[in-house]
Amino acid sequence: MQNTLFLLCLLASPLALYASVRPYKNYRGSGTAISTATPVPQYQKVGLDLCPTCIQFTGEAINELLNIILNLGVVGSCGKVCSALEQKTGSQALGLVCDLLCDYVGIEEFIKLIQKADLDPFYFCELIKICPIFDTGDATITQLSVTPLSGPQGPKQIAVAYTSKNGTGTGEIIVGIQTVDGLPIENGFVHDAQPAGTYPLSLTLKAEPDPNCDPSQGFCEQWLPGNYSVTVDVCNGECGSAHPNSKVYDRKTTGFIITEN
Ligand SMILES: *[C@@H]1O[C@H](CO)[C@@H](O)[C@H](O)[C@H]1NC(C)=O
Ligand SMILES: *[C@@H]1O[C@H](CO)[C@@H](O)[C@H](O)[C@H]1NC(C)=O
Repeated sequence: MQNTLFLLCLLASPLALYASVRPYKNYRGSGTAISTATPVPQYQKVGLDLCPTCIQFTGEAINELLNIILNLGVVGSCGKVCSALEQKTGSQALGLVCDLLCDYVGIEEFIKLIQKADLDPFYFCELIKICPIFDTGDATITQLSVTPLSGPQGPKQIAVAYTSKNGTGTGEIIVGIQTVDGLPIENGFVHDAQPAGTYPLSLTLKAEPDPNCDPSQGFCEQWLPGNYSVTVDVCNGECGSAHPNSKVYDRKTTGFIITEN
């Protein structure tokens, strides 16, 4: 117990950095072009909530964990799996959260649930009973706008707000940009389970070529002049997931224009 409390204290400090809508690493790619602009006060939670930590952890580690489980075969202990994870990722924090979650359910259950979750961090954190399940939630996107609506390359603000009558489950918000020259740009954010209310969210879009983008590592968006569309999904669980306790609450689309100068 004392050990767990110690781990919780260690986890509490990095947690404080996150407002309750936060980007997390997922299969949708880097998405560095879209980020949260300002922490929104009403998202701030009092006290310690392990659910967002679990989702953040699972988003970053589930792929590697599956590989480790596959390679180790019949695994003996949480310590073995989690130190392998720490070694592979070079992250002590991931190793710590792995130990915490694995000790919580036991190694056999942990492995079973990692495999059952099928790369869906929300589903995993619900299966392991760290995140609450809430299936009668709803959300309607009441605002979606881009400022400036028309102008040259440069930073844009994306304002999103959604209203919930019943409250929401823990889930994902996906922001996707349909670009002129190629692949869509997407980023995912986690939102906590929330009571009824209206939840505004301010995002920054860096609509200009990234000087650090390495073309040998993939496509580098050029933000050519033309029409762009922005689609936002607010979901229970992972957007588009076929797992239980998942639903797209609402989707809205808007547009903006990049001009020559
Ligand atoms: C909201 O809650 C009410 C009362 O519990 C329920 O009847 C309704 O189906 C819920 N809405 C959704 C979208 O689940
Ligand atoms: C871009 O959007 C503007 C305004 O909505 C429209 O007039 C124009 O035809 C669009 N251009 C293209 C290439 O779709």
